Amino acid sequence: MRFPARSITLKDGRACVLRPTASEDSEAMIAYMKRTAAETPYLLRYPDEVQFTLEGEREILSRILEDPGSVMMVAEVDGQVAGNASVSGIGTKRKILHRCSLAIALYQAYWGLGIGTAMIGYLTELARQIGFAQIDLEVVAENMQAIALYRKCGFVETGRRVRALRFDDGSFHDELLMVKTL
Ligand SMILES: CC(C)(COP(=O)(O)OP(=O)(O)OC[C@H]1O[C@@H](n2cnc3c(N)ncnc32)[C@H](O)[C@@H]1OP(=O)(O)O)[C@@H](O)C(=O)NCCC(=O)NCCS
Repeated sequence: MRFPARSITLKDGRACVLRPTASEDSEAMIAYMKRTAAETPYLLRYPDEVQFTLEGEREILSRILEDPGSVMMVAEVDGQVAGNASVSGIGTKRKILHRCSLAIALYQAYWGLGIGTAMIGYLTELARQIGFAQIDLEVVAENMQAIALYRKCGFVETGRRVRALRFDDGSFHDELLMVKTL
C-alpha cells in the first residue's frame, strides 16, 4: 500500500525517512537482501539464495505497493537504504484474515540507532489501519537483539518451534513465536 513518508531523528542525530518501497528500489533491495543475509545468521536466506532478477523484483515491489493489504517500508539515511520492513496478511481464508506477519532487517551499520523501533511503530499503525487484529512473527531463539526490539514494541512470546532451522554447519536452531495484539 501507499502511505505517507515519515521523518524521524536517530539516536546519533541524523534524519531518517520511512517511506514505501517502490519498484525503483529493486536494485538496492536485491543488494540489501544479499548483504543483510551475509551480515547476520538470523535471516531465512543465505546470500546465495537471493536469486531475484531485477525485472522480477520490480514486479514484486509494484504489486506490494498497489496491494491495500500489504505494507513494505524502506528506511533511508542520507539517501542510502538503511533497512527494510514489512507486514503482510498470512493468507486469504476468512478464519486467518485477522493475522499479518512482520519481517525486518537493517544493514549492520545502522543497528542500535532506533530505526527498528520507529519502523515497527509505524508498521503497527498501518496494520491497524488495514484492519488486522494481530501481528505474528517468528524469531531465531538466539537473536537477542531482535527479541529485545519485539518485546519493547509490545510483542509477547506464545510458543517455540523446536529445530525450526538447520544451518549449513549442521546446527539446529529453535524459533520463538511472538504476537502483538492490535
Ligand atoms: C533486529 C533489528 C531489526 C533491530 O533494529 P534496531 O534499529 O537495531 O533496534 P533499535 O535500535 O530500535 O533497538 C531496539 C531495542 O533493542 C535492544 N537492543 C539494541 N541493541 C541491542 C543489542 N546489541 N543487544 C541486545 N539488545 C539490543 C534495546 O532494548 C533497544 O531498545 P532501547 O533503544 O530502548 O534501548 C536489527 O538489529 C537487525 O536488522 N538485525 C539483523 C536482522 C534481524 O535479525 N532481523 C530480525 C529477524 S526476526
